[in-house]
Amino acid sequence: MEKPCSSLFFLGKALYNREVILDEEGERMRTRVLKLLQQANRAYISDGMIADRLGIPRKAVWKHIGELREMGYRIERAARNGYVLRETADLLLPEAIASGLDTEIVGKHIVHCEVLVSTNPEAKRLAEEGAADGTVVVAEEQTGGHGRRDRLFFSPHGKGIWCSYILRPTFLPREAPKCTLMAAVAISRAMEAFGIAAEIKWPNDILHEGKKVVGILTEMRADMDRIRYVVIGTGISINIGEEEFPEPLRGVATSLSIICGEPVSRIAFFQTVLHEMDEIYCLVEREGFASVLSEWRRYSVTLGQEVRVIDVRGDTAFEGRAADIDEDGALLVDTAEGRRRVDAGEVSIRPRACAR
Ligand code: BTN
Repeated sequence: MEKPCSSLFFLGKALYNREVILDEEGERMRTRVLKLLQQANRAYISDGMIADRLGIPRKAVWKHIGELREMGYRIERAARNGYVLRETADLLLPEAIASGLDTEIVGKHIVHCEVLVSTNPEAKRLAEEGAADGTVVVAEEQTGGHGRRDRLFFSPHGKGIWCSYILRPTFLPREAPKCTLMAAVAISRAMEAFGIAAEIKWPNDILHEGKKVVGILTEMRADMDRIRYVVIGTGISINIGEEEFPEPLRGVATSLSIICGEPVSRIAFFQTVLHEMDEIYCLVEREGFASVLSEWRRYSVTLGQEVRVIDVRGDTAFEGRAADIDEDGALLVDTAEGRRRVDAGEVSIRPRACAR
């Protein structure tokens, strides 16, 4: 069963999963209380000081601290000293993500859910209701996470970043595959920032040393000449142990913690991805796609490879050498009969070297 979602700056009224109803102002203030506790850097800070700094009564400070504790933050109180933040909840709560994030569009509105079947349909529902450009839906767990051709996508509780971005780009519907490439470059940049080499396998996977770490599923609603919205679902395996992957994924999938040899902060990684997504999206809207395209080529493990193009039924359609991608994100394959253009929405590619 799906549990209710918590949203920051979003639906006017937000319903947190412990049935606490907060108004927008309350959520903002709670975020500011959290920020002060974080800035204190494990030193105590008194309720009086928090109240003065935020211009609210001490009673309100106690209320917000109570709410933060309910969400999983371990905040201790010492009679004379006040409060100290001991442990940050490892939940992708809007408050935690927003704290220290300075984006223009992407992640300005974050909707957090404990459990969803999949974040993509929830994002589509919110987009239909008019959710703002850049709204992000994130779930701790997906019970029916899926990829292309309805393949199940393993999304266990608290172990990854299972999220969907709602974008309302101004480019044409036929250019929508650019969104997948934008997300792939943003996540690859974030991996690099964490010291992890990223390999983009066209169109929608990111690998490390041939093993899949990230899957991307882009969906769209459009008129003939205008995108209404694009939903980019991205699944990033963060802290999944080798033995936790179900059998068919063992040996072909991996996670950031396996690669790094230690747990990776989901919050820090998510903030980095949001920052990169925002930068790339704003750049593409302002200046076009060229620079992102060349960056994509740099991360690509598909280009230059002998590939098999698989049709929608899963049959081999043709084989050739992946030569390039074009401005719209389509793959250009050199075959014995000449160059063929492969659209992201219709086929998938299996480089022979790292088939999955
Ligand atoms: C693939 O591997 O083919 C794409 C996988 C996409 C997974 C993400 S996780 C968030 C969003 N919700 C889903 O059900 N799918 C995408």
